[in-house]
Amino acid sequence: MTVIELIEACSARLSEAGVSFGQGTTNAFDEAAWLVLWRLQMPLDGLDDVEELEVDDTHLAAVHALIEQRISTRQPAAYLTGEAWLQGVPFTVDARCIIPRSLIAEPLAEGSIDAWLSDRTRRVLDLCTGNGSLAVLAAMAWPEVTVDAADLSADALAVARLNVDRHQLADRITLHQGDGLAAVSNRVYDLILCNPPYVNQSSMDALPAEFNAEPALALAGGADGMDFIRRLLQQAALHLTPAGVLVLEIGHERPHFDAAFPTLDVVWLPTSAGDDQVLLLTRAALTALPSTLPLSP
Ligand SMILES: C[S@@+](CC[C@H](N)C(=O)[O-])C[C@H]1O[C@@H](n2cnc3c(N)ncnc32)[C@H](O)[C@@H]1O
Repeated sequence: MTVIELIEACSARLSEAGVSFGQGTTNAFDEAAWLVLWRLQMPLDGLDDVEELEVDDTHLAAVHALIEQRISTRQPAAYLTGEAWLQGVPFTVDARCIIPRSLIAEPLAEGSIDAWLSDRTRRVLDLCTGNGSLAVLAAMAWPEVTVDAADLSADALAVARLNVDRHQLADRITLHQGDGLAAVSNRVYDLILCNPPYVNQSSMDALPAEFNAEPALALAGGADGMDFIRRLLQQAALHLTPAGVLVLEIGHERPHFDAAFPTLDVVWLPTSAGDDQVLLLTRAALTALPSTLPLSP
């Protein structure tokens, strides 16, 4: 059996077993290719070069065992392989942190945040950093900045430490543990990136097993998904320089976001998942936010 035939067979097996995607891949073929190439120790981005190679029986058995493990445990592929990729950059991953897939990585890599920055941009905060992926991508995108990366979870920060060291960025990224912006006391930033927990409770109740394998702290945002974001938007202006901006991911929670912040002046940043999942707020927009907001449902 060739590599491509093996991937197609594994893809069919994953589909038939009804596993869920969305934690690094979006479909059965890509998930199968990831697991097969990883198990065969072949480059994940080099399928074209190896697809006609024959796979021997020993390696076939090893691949089938991995696919069956994926199906029987419903562990996401990244937890089985210990690695995930974002914007072509590899990150160490384990069950202590959510699997990196933030849409903020797209405007960051494509340069669509740069219009709000300047040659004086120096300090960036990645709030809710998880495994540190956005902090690492920010440090790579803007070589002149230093980055603070904060999270409530000591477990997630332990994985972030692995990634900061892996990418040799310890001199430019500092990790902080704490609850929201309290983790950085009174520091101010030119840019705050934040992919917070924002999944509303009814979506949490319906999560597939693969997503329940991730830390609930990383996902659950309360009844309407806005618990963390309400606190953040009330406090963020205090932590921004006069021209500073906040870039925030809200995923599919636009209706809840609009209900919670009906008067907010929002700039939406387009992503591959849609034009209303990542937004930018200037300090002026945050300052204009009324002190009394609609209550959560
Ligand atoms: C959606 S994950 C984002 C992780 C990472 N930035 C990424 O994009 O992959 C949200 C993160 O927020 C953290 N978190 C949850 N509540 C928090 C809080 N009150 N203060 C700080 N971090 C919090 C979780 O531990 C988790 O790592």
